Amino acid sequence: MSKPILVAVAWPYASGSRHLGHLAGAYLPADIFARYHRLIGDDVAMVSGSDVHGTPITVRADAEGVSPSDIADRYHAEFVDNWKRCGIKWECYTSTGTENHAAVTQEMFLNLLDKGYIDKRCSEQFYDEEVSRFLPDRYVEGTCPYCGYTDARGDQCDNCGRTLDPTDLIDPRSKMSGSIPVVRETEHFYLRLSDFSDRLSEWLDSRVGWRPHVINFSKAWIEEGLHDRAITRDLDWGVEIPVDDLGPGKRIYVWFDAVIGYLSAAKELSQRRGEPDLWRRWWQDPEAESYYFIGKDNVPFHTIIWPAMLIGNGDLNLPTNVPANQYVTFKGGKASASRGVGLTIDEGLDMFEPDSLRYALAASFPEQSDSEISVEEIARRVNEELVATWGNLVNRVFSMIHKNHNGAKPAGDERRAEDLAVLATVESLLVRQGAQIERVELKAALRTAMDAAQAVNVYLNATEPWRLAKTDPGRSATVLATALDAINGVRVGLSPFLPFSSAKLDGILGEPAGWERVDVAAGTPIPKPSPMFPKVDLEALGSID
Ligand code: MF3
Ligand code: ZN
Repeated sequence: MSKPILVAVAWPYASGSRHLGHLAGAYLPADIFARYHRLIGDDVAMVSGSDVHGTPITVRADAEGVSPSDIADRYHAEFVDNWKRCGIKWECYTSTGTENHAAVTQEMFLNLLDKGYIDKRCSEQFYDEEVSRFLPDRYVEGTCPYCGYTDARGDQCDNCGRTLDPTDLIDPRSKMSGSIPVVRETEHFYLRLSDFSDRLSEWLDSRVGWRPHVINFSKAWIEEGLHDRAITRDLDWGVEIPVDDLGPGKRIYVWFDAVIGYLSAAKELSQRRGEPDLWRRWWQDPEAESYYFIGKDNVPFHTIIWPAMLIGNGDLNLPTNVPANQYVTFKGGKASASRGVGLTIDEGLDMFEPDSLRYALAASFPEQSDSEISVEEIARRVNEELVATWGNLVNRVFSMIHKNHNGAKPAGDERRAEDLAVLATVESLLVRQGAQIERVELKAALRTAMDAAQAVNVYLNATEPWRLAKTDPGRSATVLATALDAINGVRVGLSPFLPFSSAKLDGILGEPAGWERVDVAAGTPIPKPSPMFPKVDLEALGSID
């Protein structure tokens, strides 16, 4: 039965290039998960878009002396190109700058206002007297009250990752003028998050299979006490507040509108497909499942604030799981030594084939704890694992069939126990791998797929078809036919991880029928292979830096 699966992926701020850490943190795991579900026949909507609002964009625009929309357009175009280059496949990748998104955001705002979950309050905000402006979020910097980092931003500390409010900062300073801001009264709309404590706790208690770091962090957040949160800002860049009683110069807060993007993107997808009610499949069907792929700094927005908004709004599905990743940090490596943050997605793709990069990142996904990666480590994984275990396997089996069997799969004789055993191994590993992907244990799932490839290598080393070719050509044909049938199962398991090389194999073996191993028809043409993945030459890469 085809299930509606919403794959919701963090909306990247269109304020600067995304790095390999972001790719490994959210986009690549989401893509692997979505590709698996499409393959088993589920009705997948993988959605996201560029997050074009808020102070991340305006601060960058101020610094460059250009308009916020210049910044947003530049990085939106870059992201769209990133996804294409590394094979991140969306049902809908859009931006928060669309009319549809503004309308969906305003509708939810009004609904929550109407139900009494949003109210208007006077609050104290930082104000810069030199430039006569209130200072939202990133316009204030100062010392983090938690870790003492002196360059914390008003919305978040980049050192300890905590979510902050500008008034939390010690020794605040204005980013506009460098002056010390004063506190002034101003009016804003608030989301009454504290109203949802019990309902959120109950819902979190009902979640099964969540990553321990995600569920523990979320429950602790609630236990510390939920505070009502301002959801408007003193900014002239963002979704307009649909009631005009705050006066000019105020907009909806970027985080309030961005999370609504998951819903507005599904509605945009419906419009694009000419089926206006299609979005209900993912948002209202009780059978539907939704998975949110995000980095750990975004956890409370997805496990507490967005669920509260959904509960308050009513009639919308809550997240099935929020498999947030921890951080990937770049260590060492000639190419990243001087940067700290590591390679941008473009830089990574300039150095490595997309499948090679996808493989190495997936093998190091920070699912339970932070992980480290370097150019050397990527090269090692590509050469010693991807090429050695999988690339060479396909290469040698295809070569032998091409050379010894007139370029077509031989029929072979009756199979022996060892032949049946390798096929059974591949099949059972495929079953195990599918279950791992469904639990979002993607790193383990990749290992399982590689174990299957390795089982075929072991089989070949034991049967030695290259020797049999001279002594017992009939048996050699059976072994090669078996190896090809085994490969036909392994490539199914690897296809969500390696879409580019898998598409090449599809051209030879046909598209996988589903998540299963099937025999390749005897007589199927097997061309002379060209290496699927080039070996990485670290020396040559060194010259890029
Ligand atoms: N723009 C945020 C970031 O890059 C993520 C927003 S995710 C969403 O950290 F939920 F708000 F969409
Ligand atoms: Zn901190």
